[in-house]
Amino acid sequence: MYPSGLKANALLISVSLIALTVMLGVRANTVARVHIEGSKALLERDIPLQQMLFQLDAAFTAKQQAQKKWEITEDVAYGELFAKYGVLEARIIREVTEVWPGFDIIAKEAANGGLTEAHIQRAQEMLISEKAAALRDAREVAAGLLRVMTVALVLSIVITAWLILLLYQGLLHPLRRLRDATARIRDGELACRMKENGVSELKEIAQDFNSMAARLETLDQAKNDFLATISHEIRNPMTALKEGLSLLASEEKKLSAESQKKCLSACLIASKRLEFMINNLLNLSRTESGILERDFSRRNIAAAIQTAIDEIRPIAERKSISVRLLAPELVFMSFHWEGIVQAFVNLLLNAIKYGRESSIVDVMITNEVPSPNVEIEVMNAGADIPHDELPKIFDRFYRGANSLKQQGMGVGLHVVKKVVEAHQGAVSALSGSGHTRIRISLPKTQRLSGAASFVGGGHG
Ligand SMILES: Nc1ncnc2c1ncn2[C@@H]1O[C@H](COP(=O)(O)OP(=O)(O)OP(=O)(O)O)[C@@H](O)[C@H]1O
Ligand SMILES: [Mg+2]
Repeated sequence: MYPSGLKANALLISVSLIALTVMLGVRANTVARVHIEGSKALLERDIPLQQMLFQLDAAFTAKQQAQKKWEITEDVAYGELFAKYGVLEARIIREVTEVWPGFDIIAKEAANGGLTEAHIQRAQEMLISEKAAALRDAREVAAGLLRVMTVALVLSIVITAWLILLLYQGLLHPLRRLRDATARIRDGELACRMKENGVSELKEIAQDFNSMAARLETLDQAKNDFLATISHEIRNPMTALKEGLSLLASEEKKLSAESQKKCLSACLIASKRLEFMINNLLNLSRTESGILERDFSRRNIAAAIQTAIDEIRPIAERKSISVRLLAPELVFMSFHWEGIVQAFVNLLLNAIKYGRESSIVDVMITNEVPSPNVEIEVMNAGADIPHDELPKIFDRFYRGANSLKQQGMGVGLHVVKKVVEAHQGAVSALSGSGHTRIRISLPKTQRLSGAASFVGGGHG
């Protein structure tokens, strides 16, 4: 099973990890800054405070000595000295209290009952214990940060491992299946398909793979059908030719002049069918490789169509069909002679094959002066092409419902379309009320496309 929404999962996890890291970073930064600031203030305060306490101690001692000497000698000078040190002592106590509010209790006690040695000593001890408490705090904060970082690290490792597992299941597993499926296609198992599930990207790969395999299968089938059809189609005229010729060559069966003529005509038709078939295949590959356009020359297209009519006349006669060309005598334009002859042979063969016996096939060329195109129409009388088949009849290998009893490969109209397109023209089909018309429109002037095209035109 693929995890669904791998992309969304990975995105969510990455965003959470980044958010967690950012939050932890900001928190650690704030805590560390507060403690650094605190420690810095403590250090900055400590030295001057020590000095002040030292001065206080000195002022206190000097005051006591002056007092003792004043009491013994009763000298006024010592009395003044005592008072002076007393003022100094009071000033230092004020200054210490300003810098260090914790000294306030001692300052109050000294104000009430006078400063003693014990006060100064207590102040020293209070300072030391304050420093020790600050150090303890810093250690605890550091330990806390370390704990949070460790948890984050463990979390990251777990999440990363989970992601790797997801990737393994979500990517590696399907990749292996893709490799297996590719190997099966390589070995000729064209019906092999992949399951179209999983995350969107893998689903798309599976869909592309399946459409590629389906296309390969269709092409393979088309190739097989084509080979089967072509060998079947070639076999028919080949057999007719072989049998006709062996009949003519037979020593035992002497044919009458009439039968010999019939036999020769059958051979001629069989060889023509072979020729048309081979020409069709040749033109198909010519149009598909784009080499048809290289051989354009400015000639009379009515003459090319007349050549096509002459070629199929023996076949038309067998069905008592007459073919008429209604056209101006000269219609000069740039085109590929063999391509156009083949296209009209195909259209006429269809008109005969699917046309009614003893009917007329009309070929009309219209070359109006203001029109940029020459219009040509081939019309026959016969069963209609069903409406839904009309868009498909120009497809390669397509054969209509009416063709079941007829020979053919389904390439005739496809070659017509390809030849017309090589001339930058258009072809369409109309069928109804017992008449089928194939219309071709060819530009009189070829648009230049590289060295391949010629500039033609004119009218006859
Ligand atoms: N004049 C027509 N009247 C009726 N149906 C036609 C006519 N021309 C073509 N079709 C239909 O169109 C289909 C395709 O024609 P296309 O010429 O390509 O193939 P085909 O004649 O069957 O075989 P091929 O031309 O290769 O020998 C035919 O099978 C037929 O059903
Ligand atoms: Mg045909």
